[in-house]
Amino acid sequence: MSHPVRIAPSILSADFARLGDEIRAVEAAGADLIHVDVMDGHFVPNLTMGPPILERVRPVTKLEFDVHLMIDKPWELLQSFVDAGADSITVHVEACPDPAHTIGRIHELGVRSGLTLSPPTPVEAIEPFVGLVDRVLIMSVHPGFGGQKYMPEMVHKIEAVARWRQEHGHRYDIEIDGGIKADNAGEVIAAGAGVLVAGSAVFGSKDYAAAIRGLRG
Ligand code: DX5
Ligand code: ZN
Repeated sequence: MSHPVRIAPSILSADFARLGDEIRAVEAAGADLIHVDVMDGHFVPNLTMGPPILERVRPVTKLEFDVHLMIDKPWELLQSFVDAGADSITVHVEACPDPAHTIGRIHELGVRSGLTLSPPTPVEAIEPFVGLVDRVLIMSVHPGFGGQKYMPEMVHKIEAVARWRQEHGHRYDIEIDGGIKADNAGEVIAAGAGVLVAGSAVFGSKDYAAAIRGLRG
């Protein structure tokens, strides 16, 4: 059974001076989720947005806020992100000494959980925990910046988590993040990705609806 692919524009590439309008615009253009890239200047060498910004834009859309935490000690901010309106929270395995505990905490707070890994981390690092989460996010760029080049050598990770899902009857979404454009969407979908994050491919285009359509493969 195949599910329609969902597109998650990353607001990292939006015009922050008009953030509310940008979110309304991608919703009107057919976006399925809003991907929120949170960076702390420690886990990654860049600093983006935190709970106060999320809270201010929460009223402008009913779409899921898919929060991707690229921060150290992510457990310390889970409550704040839930209070600000996160619907799902994805944490990096590299930032969690006890991933199962952090995932459990996300569920206790009443939102969906995700687990991700940076390109150098072998996919086996998340294998013990994938059965616990609602979403597995595969990074196809080094976390930290939008607009980087897609790393095709990460496709095997999509295939691995798709295979585990099949073998064990898990139900997680498979999301791919980094450098996704119309010309590589087909290969990540074929490998098993069901949610495509796209920052520059959407917000860097003149016609958001056409860009989102072009990513559906
Ligand atoms: C990178 C972020 C990505 C990124 C995607 O650290 O997690 O979500 O913003 O942007 P593009 O699609 O431009 O690579
Ligand atoms: Zn992201």
